[in-house]
Amino acid sequence: MLGCNQNICLLISCIVFLTSVHYLSAYSCEFNVRMKQALKNEGFHRNLTYGIIFNGEDDQCWLFKDCILGLEQVLPSGVYANPDELSTLRRNNKINAIPKHQVNIELPAEKSPPTVTYVIEKIQDCKVYMWLPVHARYHIALYGGGMTRNKIDPPKLYLRCPDQRLEMCNKAAKPVNFLCNGSSKEKCSWKEIPYSVMSDSIVWKIPVGDMDHYSKISVGTALVIAIGSLYLIKAIHEHKLITSFNPFNNPLS
Ligand SMILES: *[C@@H]1O[C@H](CO)[C@@H](O)[C@H](O)[C@H]1NC(C)=O
Ligand SMILES: *[C@@H]1O[C@H](CO)[C@@H](O)[C@H](O)[C@H]1NC(C)=O
Repeated sequence: MLGCNQNICLLISCIVFLTSVHYLSAYSCEFNVRMKQALKNEGFHRNLTYGIIFNGEDDQCWLFKDCILGLEQVLPSGVYANPDELSTLRRNNKINAIPKHQVNIELPAEKSPPTVTYVIEKIQDCKVYMWLPVHARYHIALYGGGMTRNKIDPPKLYLRCPDQRLEMCNKAAKPVNFLCNGSSKEKCSWKEIPYSVMSDSIVWKIPVGDMDHYSKISVGTALVIAIGSLYLIKAIHEHKLITSFNPFNNPLS
């Protein structure tokens, strides 16, 4: 014998077994993905940003390398992403974002449904930064004006990888089909991945026009137009008087 007492051998194989089980389960599903979402800039045109970290601590981002990340962002009625702007950004290789359905950017918030936009990016490192330009919709004026609260929820996070490496992970999650990227109409199979949100929920307060102001403004506008017209009529009248007394201008002479 090599001095391997049967109990010790059993213990060692036990440890080896447990370690590999631990490894496999870590491989199969401890994604440990974290995201910080923020709304930058001021005013009616803003920048929705996403900072995403994959397995930061335990150095396992190889699991995600060369995979494609797809965010499915729902925007509330008061906020939209402009499809024309997104297609320009895609053409210039700035961001790869695509509206899920047609988006009517003219509609006021009260008449618009929430919309969905995909933002897609390849994972190169353990960290990915993504962004989406968003705009406030016009809100129908109310008496008293005020603000509306538009809550932007965290997106759903999907992955697709060039090989089968995610097959054994998250078996319960059914693959979902949607666009592969913005450059083709082709659809790909994606898998939803759980993650932790590391930021506060985003609430964008958008000012609503005040109907009281509008009525004052309309009365003011009407007055200006009326006075202006009176002034014009008076001027035309005076001009006519002058020209009719001018003998050189008299068509009859
Ligand atoms: C939005 O923010 C990101 C990250 O800070 C930046 O790279 C991008 O240029 C910004 N976009 C706009 C339109 O400001
Ligand atoms: C978009 O997806 C299609 C289908 O998978 C692929 O052939 C094409 O190379 C992709 N384009 C970009 C720019 O990633």
